[in-house]
Amino acid sequence: MDKTIIISNRLPVQLQIDNGSITAIPSVGGLATGMKSVHSGGDSLWIGWSGLTDEEIPDGLAPEIDKALAKHGSSKVNLTSEEVDGFYYGFSNRTIWPLFHYFLEYSEFELQSWETYKAVNQKFADAILKEAGENDTIWVHDYQLMLVPQMVREKRPNISIGFFLHIPFPSYEIFRTMPWRKEVLMGLLGSDLIGFHTYDYERHFLSSVRRLLGLEVSFNDIYLEDRVIKVDSFPMGIDYKKFSDAAKKHDENKTGQRSELQRRLDMHKESDPEAKFFLSIDRLDYSKGIAKRLNAFEYFLTKYPQYKEKVRLIVLAVPSRSNVPQYQLLKKEIDELVGRINGEFSTVSWTPIWYFYRSMPFENLIDLYTSSDIAWLTPIRDGMNLVAKEYIATRTDKTGVLILSEMAGSANEMNEALLINPNNFEEIADTLYEAINMPKEEQQARNAILQKRLERYNVEKWANDFMTSLKNQKLIDHSYKSR
Ligand code: ADP
Ligand code: G6P
Repeated sequence: MDKTIIISNRLPVQLQIDNGSITAIPSVGGLATGMKSVHSGGDSLWIGWSGLTDEEIPDGLAPEIDKALAKHGSSKVNLTSEEVDGFYYGFSNRTIWPLFHYFLEYSEFELQSWETYKAVNQKFADAILKEAGENDTIWVHDYQLMLVPQMVREKRPNISIGFFLHIPFPSYEIFRTMPWRKEVLMGLLGSDLIGFHTYDYERHFLSSVRRLLGLEVSFNDIYLEDRVIKVDSFPMGIDYKKFSDAAKKHDENKTGQRSELQRRLDMHKESDPEAKFFLSIDRLDYSKGIAKRLNAFEYFLTKYPQYKEKVRLIVLAVPSRSNVPQYQLLKKEIDELVGRINGEFSTVSWTPIWYFYRSMPFENLIDLYTSSDIAWLTPIRDGMNLVAKEYIATRTDKTGVLILSEMAGSANEMNEALLINPNNFEEIADTLYEAINMPKEEQQARNAILQKRLERYNVEKWANDFMTSLKNQKLIDHSYKSR
C-alpha cells in the first residue's frame, strides 16, 4: 500500500538511556507536537534522529532502540556526535535559525558546518530512498533538511515530494547574506510543493528565487525546464479537540485528584480571588523575547504599582539547544533577571515571577493554560507560535485574554487577541492593564470567534490541505511535462 513518509530532524519522541533501559519522552516544539497528531491518524512512517548520538548508544542496544521507535511508527537516522555538532548545533542552529529569525549578528557562516549539513542531509535522503516506493509521498519538514528534496529528486525524478518550513522565511535582504544561499534554494526546489505558515514568508521566498536564481515565477508557481513547483501558505493549526477535551476533563475533575501544581495554583486563587495569573510558555530561545517580557513586566509593576501583590507571572521555559553559546548566555540572562526582579519586588507573601526551567507533562500544561487569566506571548520573531492557539483552545468558559506579539505567524489569524509590538514597553504595560480590566463579556466575545476559527482550521485540516495541494500539483506537473 502507498504510504506517506514524514521526514524531520526531530522524531515525535526523544530516546534516553538510563542504566541500560530506554525511555521515550515526547518531543517539544511546534513541528513535533503538530505532526504527532497527523502521524497518529494515518498510514505513515516518520524518519528522523532519535536524539542520541551513535556514541551514546551502547553496543547491542541498537535493536532495542529500533523497537522502541517502531512503537511510534518511527525509524531513525544514525548520527555521530561530530555530525550532530556540525549539522544540528552548527549549521541548523548557529547559521539558519538565527538568520531566518532576523538575528543576523548571531549567525555564523562556517564552511565546515555547511559541509556537515550537506553530508547529513544526504544521510536523511538516503534513508528516504531506502524506504520509499515509487508511489509513496514524501513530506520533508523544516530548516534542518532543506537540501533533502533535491537529493531525493535526483534519484527519483517522478516521486511526489512536499516540503514545509516551520520557521519564518526571511526577506531577500537577509537571506542573501548567506554564502550558500543558491544551494539552499536549489535544494528546496527539488520539491513539488513548498509550504510556509504565512503569505509573507511565501513572498520572501519567491522573491529570493526570482532574484538569486533568475527563474521564471508566475503568481506562486516556479517554472523549471522540466517541472513546475507550487509555493503556497498553509497556516498550521493545533489538535483543537485534544486541548479542548483535556480542558473539559480538567474542569469536570474539580473535586477529584488534582496535580500538585494545580493544588498550588488553586490555593493562591482561593487566598485572593482578585489576583491574576499571567502565563508565558516557550522553549528557552532568544527568538521568543523572554528577557524583553521580563523587563516589560518590571516596567508594568512600576507604572501600575496598584497591581503589586495582585499579579503573578508564570514563566515556563523548556530547555533547548543548550550546547549553543547564545542559548547558554540567554539562560544566564533569564536566571539573573528573574532573580533581580523577584529580589526587587517580592514581599513575604508574594513572589511576582514563578519561573520553571523544564519540560512538563501534558496534564500540567493543561493545569497552567486553564488556570491563567492572561496568556502573554512576546516572540521577537516566530514562524507560527502554537502555544497561543493551545491557550485559547483550553478556555472552556471562553474567558481569558491572549496578548500576542504581532511578530508571531499566528498573529495573522488571531486578530481578536490583543496584539502588541514586543519592543514597545509602554504599549505592553497598557495592554496588560487593559487585559486585567477587560469585561468578561468582551473576553468571551473575542474568544468565541477565535475558538471557532481554531476548531475549523485545526492541524488535520492543515495536513489535508497540504496533501491535497501536493496531489494536485503532481497532476499539473504531469501535464506540464507532456506539453
Ligand atoms: P516552537 O515550535 O518554536 O517551540 P510553538 O509555540 O509553535 O514554538 O510550539 C511549542 C510546542 O511545545 C507547543 O505545542 C507546546 O505545547 C509545547 N511545549 C511548550 N512548552 C512545553 C513544556 N514545558 N512542556 C511540554 N511541552 C511544551
Ligand atoms: C521549532 C522548529 C522545529 C524544532 C523545534 C524544537 O519548532 O521549527 O524544527 O524541532 O523548534 O527545537 P529542537 O532543536 O529541540 O528540535
